[in-house]
Amino acid sequence: MTAAEIRQKYLDFFRERGHVVIPSASLIPENDPTVLFTTAGMHPLVPFLMGEPHPEGRRLADVQKCIRTGDIDEVGDNRHLTFFEMLGNWSFGDYFKEEAIAWSFEFLTGREWMDLSPDRLFVTVFAGDEDAPRDEESIRLWKERFASVGLDAEAGERIFPYPKKENWWGPAGQTGPCGPDTEMFYDTTGDPDRETHLPGATEPSPCHPNCDCGRYVEVWNDVFMEYFKTEDGKYEPLSQRNVDTGMGLERMAMVMQGQPTVFETDLFRPLIAAIEERSGSRYGADEGTTRAMRIIADHVKAAVFIIGDPRGVSPSNVDQGYVLRRLIRRAVRYARQSGIEGRLLSSLAGRVIDIYGEAYPELVAKRERIVQELDDEEDRFGRTLQKGLQEAKKVGTRFAESEVIPGEAAFHLYETYGFPRELTEEVLAKPVDRERFDEEFRKHQELSRAGAERKFAGGLADRSERTVRMHTATHLLHEALRRVLGQHVEQRGSNITPERLRFDFSHPQKMTEEELKAVDDLVNEQIDRDLPVSFEMMSVEQAKQAGAIGLFEEKYEELDNRLKVYTVGDAETGVFSREICGGPHVEHTGQIGRFRIKKEQASSAGVRRIKAEIG
Ligand code: ALA
Repeated sequence: MTAAEIRQKYLDFFRERGHVVIPSASLIPENDPTVLFTTAGMHPLVPFLMGEPHPEGRRLADVQKCIRTGDIDEVGDNRHLTFFEMLGNWSFGDYFKEEAIAWSFEFLTGREWMDLSPDRLFVTVFAGDEDAPRDEESIRLWKERFASVGLDAEAGERIFPYPKKENWWGPAGQTGPCGPDTEMFYDTTGDPDRETHLPGATEPSPCHPNCDCGRYVEVWNDVFMEYFKTEDGKYEPLSQRNVDTGMGLERMAMVMQGQPTVFETDLFRPLIAAIEERSGSRYGADEGTTRAMRIIADHVKAAVFIIGDPRGVSPSNVDQGYVLRRLIRRAVRYARQSGIEGRLLSSLAGRVIDIYGEAYPELVAKRERIVQELDDEEDRFGRTLQKGLQEAKKVGTRFAESEVIPGEAAFHLYETYGFPRELTEEVLAKPVDRERFDEEFRKHQELSRAGAERKFAGGLADRSERTVRMHTATHLLHEALRRVLGQHVEQRGSNITPERLRFDFSHPQKMTEEELKAVDDLVNEQIDRDLPVSFEMMSVEQAKQAGAIGLFEEKYEELDNRLKVYTVGDAETGVFSREICGGPHVEHTGQIGRFRIKKEQASSAGVRRIKAEIG
């Protein structure tokens, strides 16, 4: 079964069970200061898990593009990926454990669906602790499912209870919706003897789903979100009980295609073949070759999706652009190490687009830009790589006795040879003095370490009330700029932290004092008028007709999906702004408070940046 067929069957299955299929959100979260990338299907849906009504109803299904940068260094083993697709079905206060578990079981084992042997299915559940009880209901439901196919499933044999670390999903160390989960694993061996699969074990201790040997592959996670973790670490009941599920498409393809790793599936095979062709080596020839090929394939794929996203970015020294740079440069280094000379990445991008173009038409539409960005970055780095490696070796020798590489030396490698800090650490197999490195970096790049740390930490959106207020203020600012400066003003980027909002827009020159004051006044005027804020679902055509501004993602046109359009003002007050947006927003502009522009500056050619705050 191809990956495309798995996607299709999954969406069909849940559509037949009353779910509305929604398109993947952008890989780059909108107005979310806490993460750089969309890391799970639930991420763009947080407001609806918190109780905001979703315009498409209480049951949704989707295939979400995801990037997890925490895993970059683990890429190369048999299951960690930077880019992956997560299939999800959602209940916002609708069905709960009973249906979720029954449907998971049916989809995995049903004849017309995945048709996996129930005998090779193992599940884990939450064992309980002082915050929440043991998930007896899930244990009972799984027992019933297994019994229905004649399998006697006991806790500890086929159903494994684990503590929070394994079977709880939600924001790590942050506030937000969360709850116990149940995870489904496929036994790749089918061997009835579980004790034989412990590599290097001296004592008999049976292999289990969370064992690291790789025998059991996690394919799906059903999260029963019924708690909210508060600032002081308490778990309070959520206003509604939700189901958030995530099935890894690549892992499912691996299981369905009977392959030993995700890299042998149809989502990778053509890419690996192209790398083999260029390097003249065979995938699987030895561990080093295999690992290098996996890393190159994974990183190029992630880079293509980041550049090709509707909110795509270019390689740079900060934020998403920095991650993109790291991915590209690490791939280039492994390519050279594998004996591949000359440009490689853009030709591999062609293979990525072949594999994914149908499911993600934005990649086809942005093919030229993808090729250009990859070529530019590969050329830039390729020129200094050899010298940089020689220089890095010298640094390694000089600090052979030291536990860490001094920050200044690592920064020199970055500035002169384009070595991201992480690459230096990998090449020299030693950590860099991060504090000193960042200090140097900050001196040159104005990069706030606290900011970077927060962004790399991963986690859920900061949906604080202040963020929501600033989000609505951003809409007012966008429209005010268009009224004061002209209709050529278009949003180029936006970012909100609890302290300030940042808005990038197209405009050829510096704004004058008068223009800034006019914009400031216009925004505050709308706040004083206390205009109502509301949203409506519209087709692309209707949204255009209604004069909505914002991002018309190609995806929507393709799928004929409807858009969420937020309006500030109404028939009575007159409409001030209308913009395509996922929300959330305040209900009345009066809730925003005073708006103040702090700074107006250049961002890049033809793009200006405004920083503002509310008080
Ligand atoms: N949100 C859950 C996960 O990412 C489904 O595993």
